[in-house]
Amino acid sequence: MKVTIVGAGNVGATCADVISYRGIASEVVLLDIKEGFAEGKAMDIMQCATTTGFNTRVSGSTNDYSKTAGSDVVVITSGIPRKPGMTREELIGINAGIVKSVADNVLAHSPNAIIVVVSNPMDTMTYLTLKATGLPKNRVIGMGGALDSSRFKYYLSQALQKPSNDIQGMVIGGHGDTTMIPLTRLASYNGSPVSNFLSQEELEKVAASTMVGGATLTGLLGTSAWYAPGASVAYLVDSILNDQKRMIPCSVYLEGEYGQNDICIGVPCIIGKNGIEQIVDVQLNDAEKALFAKSADAVRNMNADLKS
Ligand code: NAI
Repeated sequence: MKVTIVGAGNVGATCADVISYRGIASEVVLLDIKEGFAEGKAMDIMQCATTTGFNTRVSGSTNDYSKTAGSDVVVITSGIPRKPGMTREELIGINAGIVKSVADNVLAHSPNAIIVVVSNPMDTMTYLTLKATGLPKNRVIGMGGALDSSRFKYYLSQALQKPSNDIQGMVIGGHGDTTMIPLTRLASYNGSPVSNFLSQEELEKVAASTMVGGATLTGLLGTSAWYAPGASVAYLVDSILNDQKRMIPCSVYLEGEYGQNDICIGVPCIIGKNGIEQIVDVQLNDAEKALFAKSADAVRNMNADLKS
């Protein structure tokens, strides 16, 4: 099984690292526009093979898409961060150009690939990829909910003082500080609702920390995070390549589900060898439905910038 990761930066290279040491794919190609960069990252990862113990072949390429031919999954992490003085529209315009040309290039060599979009603003870039490529909706998956949910479970584990692995929790909606919706009502610890252990005030604090989870790390690191983002992409890729059928919140094109149309936004999906195999209909209460509708409005506003 072959995976291409476009963008050998922090998130892309971490994802390649996790995919190799966990043996998720037999081959990983890292591709970057920066001369020699992907080759260097690939070589560094390959030099872990004997100490970490893996057989995955990782190689790098400077913009030579022929090396990506026959990929089963392509992850797009290429893009630029917002620079001082740059408007949101300008950032969207630049990243949209990058994501669109990358999608065209990878599909020319891997026409059957499933595309995982990571570049921000992720929901809008997922929507653009779907529209620009004309691929069926099961083959274009936005990664954001997996990361936001892992942060949610982290903050729940801190509040509960219990291991994250015993905690279930999900974040849906847009992948942004103000648009994501941590579903505290449905979160559980060892099968019991977390509301049995935490007060409403504590739950609200967990939700608030989750929503600024990315910004908190950017404040500490001076740049956006990569370990949890890279691992979250690898988790999603594993579910596709190894047909795990995990339920993972992903940004997916909605056609009536959750009361929305013509938008890519985070909802729980069953992820397997065909990509998005099912959109899971979680019964939201009225307050959650209202939050979801508000989140969709915000994502739609962002999508409108694509056209300007
Ligand atoms: P980074 O700056 O470390 O890496 C980006 C890489 O993309 C750079 O190496 C750059 O040379 C490359 N690149 C730029 N244009 C390219 C092109 N046309 N073709 C090939 N490569 C190209 O950034 P980082 O931290 O890895 O983040 C990558 C993206 O992922 C950003 O847009 C970031 O906002 C987003 N992100 C999304 C998350 C999510 O949950 N969806 C989580 C974390 C980051």
